[in-house]
Amino acid sequence: LQNINTVNNKEWCVPIKIAFFDSGQGGLTVWEKVVEDFPSVSTVYLGDNARCPYGNKSAEVIRSYTRQAIHFLLEQKVNFVAIVCGTASSVSIESLRSEFKIPIIGIIEGLCKFASLVLKESTKPVAVLATRFTIQTQKFKSELQNYNIHNIWQKACPVFAPLVEDGISDGPMIEQACELYLNDIPKTVKIVLLACTHYPRIVEPISRYLYKKTNRSVLLKKLDKDVILAPKNSAKKCDDPIYLIEASTSIHHSIEDVIKNGHFKTKDIKGRHKLFCTDAPHHFEMITRYFTQIPLPKTELVNISGIL
Ligand code: DGL
Repeated sequence: LQNINTVNNKEWCVPIKIAFFDSGQGGLTVWEKVVEDFPSVSTVYLGDNARCPYGNKSAEVIRSYTRQAIHFLLEQKVNFVAIVCGTASSVSIESLRSEFKIPIIGIIEGLCKFASLVLKESTKPVAVLATRFTIQTQKFKSELQNYNIHNIWQKACPVFAPLVEDGISDGPMIEQACELYLNDIPKTVKIVLLACTHYPRIVEPISRYLYKKTNRSVLLKKLDKDVILAPKNSAKKCDDPIYLIEASTSIHHSIEDVIKNGHFKTKDIKGRHKLFCTDAPHHFEMITRYFTQIPLPKTELVNISGIL
């Protein structure tokens, strides 16, 4: 990262501005955590909700949408791109990195590394929940295998993201979808990896279902603590919990590294934020406000489809 400029032999650093990209609402689960944890970081968020969901589309189409998104984000003068979409991260990040001369991260490496740290020496199953495209690519599976994790159960959950996109995060439809997708999850599962960034919005019904199915507590793994998700109101320490892990936690160290290695200025700076979507900004904003507690800028409409 080349961000140190020299003026009169004095070194000074530029502020950091990170771009976040997802097919829609999902990446906001990562964005909001970064905004909270790194107040000096400025951000630009793009949700391509006009073309969401990506998860049922082909590699060619997803790659082309992702390239258009990155082109648009580069026009916003960002110095780093975080593809906070499991599906877009599963099209070749390497080819995007060689095409765009800017640091780009996806969510696969960080999440799989985090899973290996949580799993330690255990050989119990790791479940990967993601979109159909992500599962088809086997990218999470092969990255987990790089960490010597081989007991992997994968499931495509194509209905979850469109429900979340419409502001539905619990209730009978989500419960039915949990039954449909999770009924054959191994009872000994140790980690459930939320490999789609929309899924953190539905951790409650997912964890309720897992508890009902396995009779084991379900905890959300954070960097500094575990949050008990199910059974609700239980302070009881449990011997063999199931851990849910998500990209907003695993991305933390990557952002820290970027700030440190890029020598970005972070002192005495307050980050500014811009949100863009590609259709119906009022609706997008309404759903975003329903999900997130943090103050939001007005969502702006942008057309990225003609960029390439
Ligand atoms: N948030 C996305 C992901 O992480 C997307 C879902 C979709 O567009 O299908 O995969």
